[in-house]
Amino acid sequence: MTVTDDPTTQLPTPHGPFVEDDREAHSFRVHRSTMTSPEIHAMELERVFAHSWLYVGHESEIRKKGDYVRRPVGGRQVFMVRGRSGQVNVFHNTCTHRGAMVCRAERGNAKIFSCFYHAWSFNTDGELVGIPDRQAYGDDLDFGKLGLRPAAKVDSYRGFVFLSYDPDIVPLVDYLAGATEYLDLVVDAVEDAEIISGTNEYAINANWKLLAENSIDGYHAVSTHDTYFKYLVALGTDLAGGVQGTAKALGNGHAVLEYTAPWGRPVAKWEPLFGEGAREEIGRLRAELVAKHGEERASRMTDVNRNLLIYPNLVINDIMAVTVRTFMPVSADRMEITAWELAPSQEQPQLRQRRLDSFLTFLGPGGFATPDDIEALESCQQGFHSGGVEWNDISRGMARTPEANDEEQMRAFWRRWNEQMIGEAR
Ligand code: FES
Ligand SMILES: [Fe+2]
Repeated sequence: MTVTDDPTTQLPTPHGPFVEDDREAHSFRVHRSTMTSPEIHAMELERVFAHSWLYVGHESEIRKKGDYVRRPVGGRQVFMVRGRSGQVNVFHNTCTHRGAMVCRAERGNAKIFSCFYHAWSFNTDGELVGIPDRQAYGDDLDFGKLGLRPAAKVDSYRGFVFLSYDPDIVPLVDYLAGATEYLDLVVDAVEDAEIISGTNEYAINANWKLLAENSIDGYHAVSTHDTYFKYLVALGTDLAGGVQGTAKALGNGHAVLEYTAPWGRPVAKWEPLFGEGAREEIGRLRAELVAKHGEERASRMTDVNRNLLIYPNLVINDIMAVTVRTFMPVSADRMEITAWELAPSQEQPQLRQRRLDSFLTFLGPGGFATPDDIEALESCQQGFHSGGVEWNDISRGMARTPEANDEEQMRAFWRRWNEQMIGEAR
């Protein structure tokens, strides 16, 4: 047992148990060291992030050959670039000469990535195509082997690009398991989906798993986001129906909340927040979806909200906007978050504006939800360090068919996390 002055950094044993899952007693507990221990944070980087499929970006961010975006994925610098034959490449952002990052800008378009250190140059397929003073190396060195290194695995599903650092990981579609049904619902409802240019980037002084939990937590909505509900009522929204729905585990740690709720959705559900001017257009969009997918599926797309967690760190909130959010631990006590908005590429400017307003009103960094959630997560993190209590309780709904306000979706996340951390190497 590790013994330090801080009781929350003590592990129950060096290898857990981190999770106590007692289905007979309807009890599910997670040890708080999972949220605070630097040793567990280091283990996670290796056992979770190096052996999962991780979200890199959306194909629409790099529509033209040579378009690229640079970002950290799983704590490592990579960049995604549209190659010469139109394919999506993802490279480790490190020069094969002596290490400098060859992609220096956040985004742009380039035919060549020239390393600023000694000016080795690589094309968009990663091939080394330029070396100053080439003759200094003689004729025997194989420059064909000195191209940029692609991520071990890269694949995409419905426009969402993922990588894995594990060459032996299962195919992406198998990994996504039951989550594909929900990704399909999101994408089918958004004609030619594209990520709107621009990001929300912020950091929270809390463990990253608190945001995984929070993103699919129906239980907190009414208490934490009371101000937002009051705001909706003031605008004329009828909240009498409340929030009705289910929570589901989707396999491999993925989970979803699906529920009807009284707020408007830019995916064709009008509410007063969108303004009278949008009523007709939203009605037209809805009719189009019904014609294409039938009343039942169209209703699921338009009327039903989804908070989808793709294990370990991708969240798609298909609610009063369609937000794509990923987050990464910096340490046990801090994470960095990036969020984007997904929209139909040919959306009318007025509707696009209302979508963005709706996105920022609730989920933006200064919106009604995010600051409250950040406050809650940072409060939990500080609470853990207070000590005295060793375990979090995540048992809600174990004794019944789980509902949207239960905690089955979090248990799905934690069961997979526990398997990766102590049950198997990948
Ligand atoms: S480190 Fe890139 S050219 Fe030397
Ligand atoms: Fe929230």
